[in-house]
Amino acid sequence: TLPPGVISLADHEAHAAGVLDANAWAYFAGGAADETTLQHNQGAWRELPLQPRVLRPLAGGHTRLELLGRPLAHPILLAPVAYQRMAHPDGELATALAASAQGAGLVLSTQASLPLELVAQAVRDDADRGPLWFQLYLQHDRGFNLELIRRAEAAGYEALVLTVDAPCHGARDRERRAGFRLPPGISAVNLAGLPPRPDAQLGPGQSALFDALLGGAPTWDDIAWLQANTRLPVLLKGILHPDDAREAARLRVGGIIVSNHGGRTLDTALPTAAALPAIADAVGGSLPLLVDGGIRRGTDVLKALALGASAVLVGRPYIFGLANAGALGVAHVIRLLRDELEIAMALCGCRTLADITPRLIPRPA
Ligand code: FNR
Repeated sequence: TLPPGVISLADHEAHAAGVLDANAWAYFAGGAADETTLQHNQGAWRELPLQPRVLRPLAGGHTRLELLGRPLAHPILLAPVAYQRMAHPDGELATALAASAQGAGLVLSTQASLPLELVAQAVRDDADRGPLWFQLYLQHDRGFNLELIRRAEAAGYEALVLTVDAPCHGARDRERRAGFRLPPGISAVNLAGLPPRPDAQLGPGQSALFDALLGGAPTWDDIAWLQANTRLPVLLKGILHPDDAREAARLRVGGIIVSNHGGRTLDTALPTAAALPAIADAVGGSLPLLVDGGIRRGTDVLKALALGASAVLVGRPYIFGLANAGALGVAHVIRLLRDELEIAMALCGCRTLADITPRLIPRPA
């Protein structure tokens, strides 16, 4: 059951702080380094003032949209988050069932703690579920990548989301302070069988990061390779610069997710609310634009749409819901955001998502 008194995403977070152990809390709640971006992501949405319209007809309003040629009940998706069995024994399975029940899109992480087939199978045939996408971290072994892509295709995933903002881990001070370790029995099961990285012989003065680990980091050339090797649309997750957005559009990717990985990679990276407008200008509606990072309120969702996004993703909030009450908690988090979005739309004079325009956010004088 849901904990009493938990009626907002912030309440879910506060309650989860007492449910998760220190190890899991450091992993799920933390960000990189000084956690500047982690904090500013939320602040940037909150501090955008809304300038609502009144007396506009609202009857028959709804939050429906079409994304990648598919109808959705609302514009809220669940972002890929690794190792969800650390939050709750049912892990990604509970998340998928809740997403499906709430018609929310789900992006399963490459580092999920349950097999991608098991998660897809549980919801694949649900009539009203949202889209099911697979997040890809390219591995150093091409053959393994191909196998993983084939598995995702065969299991029924409808798009691949290539994460491009994490060629290496950020400096995760909070995790290091907490001595974070994956608990026994929890692992990235979909990467089982990945051949070990060949041993690098580092000479004096060479960098373990640049000369070994990053040898296999994806580049723009890999985007074309990926597109040539899958029938699924490929979205890029982790774009913050309009020049990268233009390049992505030129390569005809399936979509862009404006993201700074929830402040877990490059600290002091631009908050996504601040990055979105220039990227929306750069790609000008030529491809679906999504955004994540710090979205905690229905008003945040509305602002993201006003600044040019077609849909949003949330990460930590649903993990806190999962920790608090399993699938019910995840469903509750999605429902809260949907309800808040509807209220925000009504109070801004928006009958449909198409009514949510940049005019609702005054430009700073
Ligand atoms: C993530 N994120 C992430 N992204 C990704 O592409 N693959 C992954 O495996 C993970 N894993 C992951 C774990 C945890 C604990 C967190 C908090 C985040 C990033 C995630 O998809 C998303 O970009 C952010 O979480 C969005 O920010 P909010 O909503 O958490 O503020």
